[in-house]
Amino acid sequence: MSTIVVTTPATAGLGEQFKAHGLTKKTVVLFDENTKRLFGEEILQTLHSEGFRTLELVVPARETSKSLTTANRLYGSMIEADIDRSWNLIAVGGGVVGDLGGYIAASYYRGIPVIQFPTTLLAMTDSSIGGKVAINHPLGKNLIGFFHLPELILIDPSRLKTLPLREIYSGMAEVIKYGFIADAAFFAMLEKHFSDIVSLKEPWLSEAIRKSAGTKENVVASDFREMNGLRATLNFGHTFAHGLEKLADYRHIGHGEAVTIGMACALFLSSDLGFLDATERQRGLSLISRFRFPKRLLKKRFLAIEGETLLQNMLSDKKKLDRKLRFVLLKKLGEAFLYEKDVDDRKVLEAIEEAKKFFTGHSGS
Ligand SMILES: NC(=O)c1ccc[n+]([C@@H]2O[C@H](COP(=O)([O-])OP(=O)(O)OC[C@H]3O[C@@H](n4cnc5c(N)ncnc54)[C@H](O)[C@@H]3O)[C@@H](O)[C@H]2O)c1
Ligand SMILES: [Zn+2]
Repeated sequence: MSTIVVTTPATAGLGEQFKAHGLTKKTVVLFDENTKRLFGEEILQTLHSEGFRTLELVVPARETSKSLTTANRLYGSMIEADIDRSWNLIAVGGGVVGDLGGYIAASYYRGIPVIQFPTTLLAMTDSSIGGKVAINHPLGKNLIGFFHLPELILIDPSRLKTLPLREIYSGMAEVIKYGFIADAAFFAMLEKHFSDIVSLKEPWLSEAIRKSAGTKENVVASDFREMNGLRATLNFGHTFAHGLEKLADYRHIGHGEAVTIGMACALFLSSDLGFLDATERQRGLSLISRFRFPKRLLKKRFLAIEGETLLQNMLSDKKKLDRKLRFVLLKKLGEAFLYEKDVDDRKVLEAIEEAKKFFTGHSGS
């Protein structure tokens, strides 16, 4: 699998690290406009001082950069610069840059190595790990892509200082997800240090990142191509979240925000179906209640939505045909499983209503 390095600064001794992984010092460095502005000069200077040759590429900082049009433009710049198979690519940014950079690396010259340099909490704990890389198609998100594992994942938690709080919470949703699905001790650590992590205090921040990244790496290692249901547990809360995101046109609600709400729904469903006991559910919900949402967002994008409407949108168009929804449920905090049986719509609707009541009581900031 990939080597994950969590340290500050992650660029120290990069030449040696590359050498140890059989990587050449010929590197395409992909940024988005923000990461270029924030870290571009420093990273390029470090690379040059270590004797790297570089080609710098920059894309707009938005989801639409994950497109064939952008990829084609970047291929063009690379061909013009005589980049061949002996080069590699570093993706410096959030999940957008990581997915796009990984996609380019997987396809250019039939594949060059990719190094992920994640700079959002979501990318550090989720998207940079596991080798799924993709661009979007006008008919759907992340539909065109590859499994292309990064050789190295370089995580420097101090880079998060410039990240807006809303993006921190977004990444935090995935962080607590790992506590829910895989590790009760980690869950307890998150209960204790939630505020420390959100305010980027060390050593809690690095510990949370290390644990999250490691959990994802382990899950992926045991189920690379999603064959046995283990990798599917990473989708805890995501079936509900997908419906909320679709209803908001993937624009008006953040992925992490949708996942946070989705995890509350999944906790209710887990206990309503008799898998999770009420005390554990309460502990789960009280961790979720620490998240801060813009009030209007919660109201408009969840509380005001009819359960039935949400349910319809949880079914992707393809799945609508056989009307099957798959849920990841909890047996207890730290242990998730993919529930293979059909769940009665009424149960799903009940869980949504319970989650609405819960969020009405904790309506955010
Ligand atoms: N491949 C996977 O397994 C996987 C998993 C989850 C999500 N994703 C993908 O990840 C993407 C979302 O990623 P994201 O949430 O990181 O969003 P993003 O890449 O859009 O980054 C969010 C914003 O933060 C900015 N930014 C990045 N680092 C910063 C920093 N240190 N300081 C200040 N601003 C910074 C970016 O420029 C951007 O404006 C989606 O496209 C999603 O499909 C992929
Ligand atoms: Zn997610």
